[in-house]
Amino acid sequence: TMVDKGNHRHFMQKEIFEQPTVVAQALGRYLDPVAGKVRLPHMPFELATVPKVTLVACGTSYYAALVARYWIEKLARVPVEVDIASEFRYREPVYMDGGLAIFISQSGETADTLAALRHAKAAGQRVATIVNVMGSTMAREADVVLPIHAGAEIGVASTKAFTCQLSVLAALAVDLAAAKGQIDEAQEAAFVQELETAPKLMAQVLANDEAIEEIARAIAPARDVLFVGRGIHFPIAMEGALKLKEISYIHAEGYAAGELKHGPIALIDENVPVIGIAPNDELIDKTVSNLQEIMARQGKVILLSDNAESEAEGMFARLEMPSAGELVTPILYAIPVQLLAYYAAVEKGTDVDQPRNLAKSVTVE
Ligand code: G6P
Repeated sequence: TMVDKGNHRHFMQKEIFEQPTVVAQALGRYLDPVAGKVRLPHMPFELATVPKVTLVACGTSYYAALVARYWIEKLARVPVEVDIASEFRYREPVYMDGGLAIFISQSGETADTLAALRHAKAAGQRVATIVNVMGSTMAREADVVLPIHAGAEIGVASTKAFTCQLSVLAALAVDLAAAKGQIDEAQEAAFVQELETAPKLMAQVLANDEAIEEIARAIAPARDVLFVGRGIHFPIAMEGALKLKEISYIHAEGYAAGELKHGPIALIDENVPVIGIAPNDELIDKTVSNLQEIMARQGKVILLSDNAESEAEGMFARLEMPSAGELVTPILYAIPVQLLAYYAAVEKGTDVDQPRNLAKSVTVE
């Protein structure tokens, strides 16, 4: 199929802005809002019998796996192991009988992820894949295929595939929790209802893109940028850092906010912007206090939060985010970090859709 940029300057920009539409499309395939239920494709086994989940992926897909670990462990109380595909098979992973191994890949062709899938299959695991490209090798070889319905993604830096992967993983976490008897019907219906709010809230974040563009222009000259978050937003911080590295070539790191004092705080001075991802959850006070330690060392803090009360004094900038539930919040915070990277890259004049040294799909190990 022919895909064009429409009235966007880059495919990446188009793909960022179509996220409310494609996430609605993905959720539409997995949620039955009338019944208040999640509907996954047929699986040749009972989810209730799965003792452990193994998630394996590369790049942005790996960060989707890290987010999903929080949902699956919290809601379904099933242990989750997450690994980078190029590391997984070489550490002789311990599989459990009946374990479900899920391979997440936009392309369905990434060599390391495919090799890991084959490793798990040969070991007798139940093998599922979450892919965008339906005719891909991983889709052909897995026992269960969960398509993300994002539509063709052209920009090398993954954006809409990430939020669609998260949408599918959230639905899976809810279904597994229901299968395990960890949530009742009313709770399942409440999660379905919460997920249904995602597209509208995502559109709200996108409507604020001028504010993000302004912040991006301010960070574009930086040599180093830190992204920090706690809990489920720690992987979003890592994804933000990856996006910035990929397309703007600014060195960036994603760090757990509480770990800053064990090293990276030594890097902080007035030239280092620090993006704090701090939604109003039970960890916000701790994250904000870590950000205050940064400000005390002249770091330029940029706060992304829905908590207007959080101490903003001395911060370089803040971006007001909408409030959402625990499944939707990480999906929402993926957007401003994508836009920061995008506008920083545009400001620097890099080749946004075809960044140097990178490929859309990596078919070598
Ligand atoms: C490449 C792409 C990344 C992508 C990664 C994994 O490095 O540039 O954007 O996240 O591969 O790709 P996959 O198709 O397996 O999700």
